Amino acid sequence: MTNPTRLPAWAALEARAAKIGARPMRDMFAADPDRFRSFSLLLGDLLLDYSKNRIDCDTMGLLEALANQSGVSEARDAMFSGEKINATERRPVLHVALRNRSDRPMLVDGHDVMPQVRAVLAKMRDFSDRVHSGRWKGATGKTMATVVNIGIGGSDLGPAMVTEALKPYQRPDLAVRFISNVDGSHAAEVLKACDPETTLFIVASKTFTTQETIANATTCRDWLVGTLGEAAIPKHFVALSTNGKAVAEFGIDTANMFEFWDWVGGRYSLWSAIGLSIAVAVGFDRFEELLDGAFAMDEHFRTAPLAANMPVILAMLGVWYGNFLGAQAYAVLPYDQYLHRLPAYLQQLDMESNGKGTAKDGSPATWQTGAIVFGEPGTNGQHAFYQLIHQGTKLIPCDFLAAAETHNPLGEHHLMLLSNFLAQPEALMRGKTEDEVRAELTAVGMSEAEIAFQLPHRVFSGNRPTNSLLYRRLDPRTLGMLIALYEHKVFVQGVVWDVFSFDQWGVELGKVLAKKILPELSSTTPVSGHDSSTTGLIAQLRAWRTP
Ligand code: F6P
Repeated sequence: MTNPTRLPAWAALEARAAKIGARPMRDMFAADPDRFRSFSLLLGDLLLDYSKNRIDCDTMGLLEALANQSGVSEARDAMFSGEKINATERRPVLHVALRNRSDRPMLVDGHDVMPQVRAVLAKMRDFSDRVHSGRWKGATGKTMATVVNIGIGGSDLGPAMVTEALKPYQRPDLAVRFISNVDGSHAAEVLKACDPETTLFIVASKTFTTQETIANATTCRDWLVGTLGEAAIPKHFVALSTNGKAVAEFGIDTANMFEFWDWVGGRYSLWSAIGLSIAVAVGFDRFEELLDGAFAMDEHFRTAPLAANMPVILAMLGVWYGNFLGAQAYAVLPYDQYLHRLPAYLQQLDMESNGKGTAKDGSPATWQTGAIVFGEPGTNGQHAFYQLIHQGTKLIPCDFLAAAETHNPLGEHHLMLLSNFLAQPEALMRGKTEDEVRAELTAVGMSEAEIAFQLPHRVFSGNRPTNSLLYRRLDPRTLGMLIALYEHKVFVQGVVWDVFSFDQWGVELGKVLAKKILPELSSTTPVSGHDSSTTGLIAQLRAWRTP
């Protein structure tokens, strides 16, 4: 446990930031024709170009030193060896065991968990094969046409993001849908498109106590039972959980339950039984390719030196901007429509993991920790919020992602998309100088007075940092690599920031208060114990709500 600001590399990076933090990348590119080669890394079919960052070799050396002094290698090894690094929950963190494609044992309390992992994968294969091939029949003998995953947070975002990303691999006549929000409109709208006889519900919840998920699962069960009766449940409901007792109490036979374990964090669980909706959608072989890709990234993360380690590089660049150059946010910009849920997925992964203000020893973190994550697919974002990234007062580093090959070769679409994927980082880096703007305006015949007025508004300071992640094609293996890349990036940052990345106590308070308020909404007795704002809102709701 270390206060990172007391490490020697921290002070050196502060000095470095004062010296080169504002140095124009334009000049650095002009001075070094090999800059791309020096600051890019190719791993299989995935290329990370990080040359458009405000860095030089010395800065990268200091960032590596900070990672070293923070104990990144030791922490990584502790995670892989099953130590209880999720200390506030006294649990190991072993999502890497779920995609361990080697013969290496993975130990929890001295026991190899790989036999259980493989047994659940085999059960998932058997089940997903039967649904995917149409051999799994509903209570009235019909093949499933719709699979509905009911879950929230990590039990929703991972499967939803991956299923969207792998749409080209899905069976067209098997729809996969997601219900997460406790807003009844979510369930109502999904159920409108479902037929009870051909719908399979997958109830995904690590704890099986999450209010939203149990409410949605109960609504869906009532909807099914209303038409087909109680006896239909075993053919139309399966559960993914660590809590067999609660699954049985809900009324799902534990024979229809796919197990995982408390050493799998919710936001790291898509590789576990929580990935069943993915396996059903794309078939189990594709699901295994996803695991293979994640395993390839795990092996890279585990064995590559820190200076040539993709997750470490991404993480330390985030630390550079967040802790030394004043950035508060970063944007994820997939130039890939199939990755349209990636920003939402990364919001949970990153913000729930590192959105912490307490250091491991319990003292307040006086340094910046997790960043605000946001994003939209390019090119939509270009016509919405990029203006602020180009010319606003805030520094927002961006990750650009794109595939060289498209699944949908339609005319020039993909080349147009790629030209934008390349143009935006170049524009963000280069900016536009006064001289360039003046020459442009003079060429169109603008008067000197008008030029003087227009010029400051049309100048772009540039020097806005970006990473570019280019991959050959968005296939399951590449997607697995990408997700594991971000998982390990978040891990490394948590180590440097000295926070516990695998708990989420911050989401508990609101849950507890919501439970207290729920009965108050339908009662007529005066409420007490709230602030005047909450009391006033409850009173107005009671007045407006139809009973
Ligand atoms: O939002 C808190 C949280 O615990 C997440 O970490 C988790 O992914 C989500 O709720 C859902 O939890 P469960 O899978 O137990 O229903």
